[in-house]
Amino acid sequence: MSPESIFGQLEIPAIRSLTMRRPDDWHVHLRDGDMMKAILPFTTAQFARAIVMPNLMPPIVTTAAAEAYRERILMARPAGLDFQPLMTCYLTDATLLDDVEDGFRREIWVACKLYPAGATTNAAHGVTDLARIAPVLERMERIGMPLLVHGEVTDPDIDIFDRESVFIDKVLIPLMRRHPGLKIVLEHVTTEEGIAAVRENAPRLAATITPHHLLLNRTSLFQGGLRPHYYCLPVAKRERHRQALRKAATSGDACFFLGTDSAPHLREAKQAECCSAGIFCGATALQTYAQVFEEEDALDQLEAFATVNGPQFYGLPLNAGTITLERSDDVVDCAIEIGGSDVVTFRGGERLAWSIKEVARPDNT
Ligand code: DOR
Ligand code: ZN
Repeated sequence: MSPESIFGQLEIPAIRSLTMRRPDDWHVHLRDGDMMKAILPFTTAQFARAIVMPNLMPPIVTTAAAEAYRERILMARPAGLDFQPLMTCYLTDATLLDDVEDGFRREIWVACKLYPAGATTNAAHGVTDLARIAPVLERMERIGMPLLVHGEVTDPDIDIFDRESVFIDKVLIPLMRRHPGLKIVLEHVTTEEGIAAVRENAPRLAATITPHHLLLNRTSLFQGGLRPHYYCLPVAKRERHRQALRKAATSGDACFFLGTDSAPHLREAKQAECCSAGIFCGATALQTYAQVFEEEDALDQLEAFATVNGPQFYGLPLNAGTITLERSDDVVDCAIEIGGSDVVTFRGGERLAWSIKEVARPDNT
């Protein structure tokens, strides 16, 4: 009997528990007020730090606004936890050059976020023409401050499924040529073309990948009917793109890291005549990543994706402490109550293959 056939008969026991360094979320929407209070504990239960998106109403455009928002997040943080929000500056046509630099030097914010005007939720104040913010981008390049991009063109004549790949060709590549030293993250990448562009331009270009884009393709949006809770921007693409995202995330390559893009909206905003873009995946993010990495036979790469590649890109220390995931058939609540309404949880009510068993923080809290 050949060695292969001996191994063929052996049952390799599945891994039942997985302990790794505490992870971070490099892209999240924590909102504000009652919504923030309700959803923040889901992020702080999983992540030690998170890059907080600035697309509030009104958006976070000054260091003063970022400091005040950071304070509100810390006040809402569950007692005893050491979770750290990392703030971002929402770029507009009128962004204040010196305030950007000052806020970066004082470590009030870690990056600027570029929303092309009108690209997504609360992006109305975004940048209308990159030429207008060229001095800001030059300054960021000089001081080493990363630019986080929502990588979609907004031209209504461009098919929505092509908006990321057109953005890469028409906006991102020329932008990188004009600013050769600028560090950029292509946030929530959704296409094969995006993955290829990141690989070609790493390490100055990196990308975050969401849990939902690893599970959903564009057909999922229409499974049995229209699924508003699967609608986000950039919208999920064809299956070949989902496969490319899964390969990239699980490769362990330093240019890809975890960013949930957890983006809650009240049920009535989702189940509406005109459904808001965004998926609340904060309660099931790490469980979903673990499942995907296991399905791709790459659980050994999860720690790089979730805990190493992000801090390395941002030049931040790795976290102390550990998190332990356990194989289980845990079910997370279908929805979270907020006032008289609720937010539907991505994968709520489903049996999940993995659950979070324990978080060991450095001071044992
Ligand atoms: O689906 C999305 N929702 N994409 C974004 O870029 C913004 C986010 C939100 O804030 O709701
Ligand atoms: Zn986002």
